[in-house]
Amino acid sequence: MKNKRIIALIFALICFFVLLGVLLWSIFREPENNTVETGSSSQTQEQPQKTDENQSPENTDTEEPSDSKEDDKKEDTVTSAGQNDDPAPTEDQPSSPEKLNPNPTTKEEIKAVLNDPFMILINRDHKVSSDYVGDDLVTYSGAYKLNSTCAAALRKLINAGQKAGYSYTLYSGYRSYSSQYNKYYNKIAYWEGQGYSNEEAVRLTNEYYAPPGASEHHTGLAADVCIPEIVNKYACLHENYDQTEEFKWFSAHAHEYGFILRYRKGDEDITGYNYEPWHYRYVGVEVATEIYNRDITFEEYIQDLENRLAALE
Ligand code: DAL
Ligand code: ZN
Repeated sequence: MKNKRIIALIFALICFFVLLGVLLWSIFREPENNTVETGSSSQTQEQPQKTDENQSPENTDTEEPSDSKEDDKKEDTVTSAGQNDDPAPTEDQPSSPEKLNPNPTTKEEIKAVLNDPFMILINRDHKVSSDYVGDDLVTYSGAYKLNSTCAAALRKLINAGQKAGYSYTLYSGYRSYSSQYNKYYNKIAYWEGQGYSNEEAVRLTNEYYAPPGASEHHTGLAADVCIPEIVNKYACLHENYDQTEEFKWFSAHAHEYGFILRYRKGDEDITGYNYEPWHYRYVGVEVATEIYNRDITFEEYIQDLENRLAALE
């Protein structure tokens, strides 16, 4: 009997200390980082909400943080979520990886541009393999990764925007092959679930979604930048973003920091995707400025260089 009492007392004491431990842990543990930066380390806002899947086929892009982003996080061997490991900008001047001649005429100059890693062309006709991983990935904000040079340039661009009175949010950066795979095939399944045939579902998905291997997001050189007002209003990245003052400022200055608007209105046949006023691609200041001034797509710029090279060989 006495032994039973002692055992019960010990058991009660163990329970007491376990409960006390749990209580103390819940009081003193670090709060979870649940914010997305707008480019300034001092400004945070709520994670963009998962977008409404019940959208019309037009004008939609559900490149929202979703299950697939979890896949990306798993591959984050560079930093843990919530940290920024790209250096904070020391000045507001744009930088470029290599000083390329953006309008080259000699074989050597043309090859230097075409072979530059920042010039990689990815689209439906130029896919990367399933084992491709973008170079030099860093965490830009709580959950998104970008190439480190692209991340530093984007930070400078967004900081410059803030000085002009505008605030921006990154909605997508690096995506692994597997996350794009999930995103693409989940969307097809979604449209099929809405009653569309497989052929129609594929066609609708292809408007805004690259098949795995065909997305620039694999490189970490592509950034989807928008504002919460638009994403919250339409429950997705929406082309009406281009009606905002934020877009107007961004699209007029992005090239100064090395970015081009990648999927232009009216060039869908060339780029292979619908107009996406939020999708910017880092190519470095010189080439971005050249493309901006010539008012052409990245495909046309690369094709022109290949034509020039072929004429010299
Ligand atoms: N929305 C672009 C085309 C992508 O999926 O990469
Ligand atoms: Zn994008």
